[in-house]
Amino acid sequence: MKSLKSIYNFLAWYYRKLESIFIDNYLGVKTSGIISTIVPGYPDVYYCETLYYWHLRKIFDQVTIHKSDVFYDLGSGYGRVLFYAAEIGFSKIEGFELRPDAYALAIKNIAGYRNNKSCDITIKCMDVADVDVSKADVIYMYNPFGLATLKKVIEKNAVLPKGIQIIYFFNENIECVNYMNSLKWAKVEKVRKLPCNIYTT
Ligand SMILES: C[S@@+](CC[C@H](N)C(=O)[O-])C[C@H]1O[C@@H](n2cnc3c(N)ncnc32)[C@H](O)[C@@H]1O
Repeated sequence: MKSLKSIYNFLAWYYRKLESIFIDNYLGVKTSGIISTIVPGYPDVYYCETLYYWHLRKIFDQVTIHKSDVFYDLGSGYGRVLFYAAEIGFSKIEGFELRPDAYALAIKNIAGYRNNKSCDITIKCMDVADVDVSKADVIYMYNPFGLATLKKVIEKNAVLPKGIQIIYFFNENIECVNYMNSLKWAKVEKVRKLPCNIYTT
């Protein structure tokens, strides 16, 4: 029985990987791969990597989206989530990325995506600690950095308008998710079977 489970897990992983390659091709982008270089002056920057589209569908199925909503990805990497956000109907989409090499790839991807679709996507190469997130309706973070930067982002934006949804995919980053859970939210929802919470202000 154990080996049947591992066959199923392998097939599920393979399907998700192929699906992501297919969707990237369809959208005219290339958003997979890992960049793990050190960024001088930023000791708690995590790898540049991304989830499969399968995960994104699962996560965003639990997010309430309105037509005029603004989406921010804090640590936007190659831009996969920006394109996904455009596909599911956000009206304005902004990404913020510290790594110049990931930023350059994302800019190239935006050009490729625009060949196929009209959209309002922008990315800035900057530290998220300097971002005012109060204009966003939905904020996404896929385990981008450690506790020091997470605290800076939250403390800088301590008073946020009501109703902002913050998607936080924490992987095994218990320290950071404990910090998020310790704050006061109107609602906290767990994404089923994923290490991801949705916090509503
Ligand atoms: C795990 S990746 C997620 C990429 C993207 N959100 C996605 O899901 O496809 C985290 C990204 O956050 C970026 N990052 C880490 N610290 C940052 C900071 N202080 N300011 C901006 N970006 C940062 C990293 O360079 C990396 O590209």
